[in-house]
Amino acid sequence: TWEYSLRPRRLNEYIGQDKVKNNLSIFVQAALSREEALDHVLLYGPPGLGKTTLAAIIANELGVNFRVTSGPAIERAGDLAALLTNLGEKDVLFIDEIHRLSRHVEEVLYSAMEDYALDIIIGKGPSARSIRLDLAPFTLIGATTRAGALAAPLRDRFGVISRLEYYRPEELACIVNRTAEVLNVEIETGGAYEIAKRSRGTPRIANRLLKRVRDYAQVAGNGIITDVTADKALAMLEVDKCGLDKTDRNMLSAIIQNFKGGPVGLDTLAAIISEENDTIEDVYEPFLLQMGFLQRTPRGRVATQKAYEHLGIVYKADEQGNL
Ligand code: ADE
Repeated sequence: TWEYSLRPRRLNEYIGQDKVKNNLSIFVQAALSREEALDHVLLYGPPGLGKTTLAAIIANELGVNFRVTSGPAIERAGDLAALLTNLGEKDVLFIDEIHRLSRHVEEVLYSAMEDYALDIIIGKGPSARSIRLDLAPFTLIGATTRAGALAAPLRDRFGVISRLEYYRPEELACIVNRTAEVLNVEIETGGAYEIAKRSRGTPRIANRLLKRVRDYAQVAGNGIITDVTADKALAMLEVDKCGLDKTDRNMLSAIIQNFKGGPVGLDTLAAIISEENDTIEDVYEPFLLQMGFLQRTPRGRVATQKAYEHLGIVYKADEQGNL
């Protein structure tokens, strides 16, 4: 489809994540030259950094089929068995949100990953028996926002564990330029850079903001995205100079105004800003931590002096005492 072409198809078209990319390139070439299935790969990191895209590229580079599912979608062991028995030799099975697999499904996955075999129990009660089904060698690519949320036995069965990092503005500017070309929209260097700087290090956000800025440039300007149109459009979208959105600012100001800067526990924070705990931990918090607006302590989240300054709130060190 049209959206799909926004995603790079080859490793050398994929911008950024150089370390991960170089490692994967070697492992893929080695597997190809041995004519073996690639070892199982775990990709982890915040949402929107390109885990699914990278997995599709790996399958493409290996020249095999790419099957996609997610942890919550595999409800019973039989669902997993159906997926695995339908894979061809050396195919890639991608399981997004792999930390959300049920305990039972996860246990069935262990032998599939380790021995390319499925141990299935058929029947109930005294007549129940276990049969072993052999599978074609395959590659499992798992994606998760938090490697720490995976059970150790599952994590240990991945031969490659790669962490995706937030992108640098230069890299995001490249991605924005590439997407602008695909979308056939004219963009100046300064415009691409303005969007890149305000996208929380995340290609998915950069590409979304590009589309909204394009709308603005088309309606309120001459269709060309400059630094000025980008800035105006992003201000309208309430994306600030650092790329924080309303929820980010809400969260920081809740910690500051309601809890004197913290520490405040995750449950309390989630209730106050009406977000799920997981959304805070996976989406909002990692970027605020990386930017130095937030700190995690054993007693909870603390807003830093930088957060006060960014929100224009006076910081009095003697009233904090928690940092
Ligand atoms: N689109 C989304 N992520 C990308 C990346 N890392 N490289 C190129 N295009 C992308």
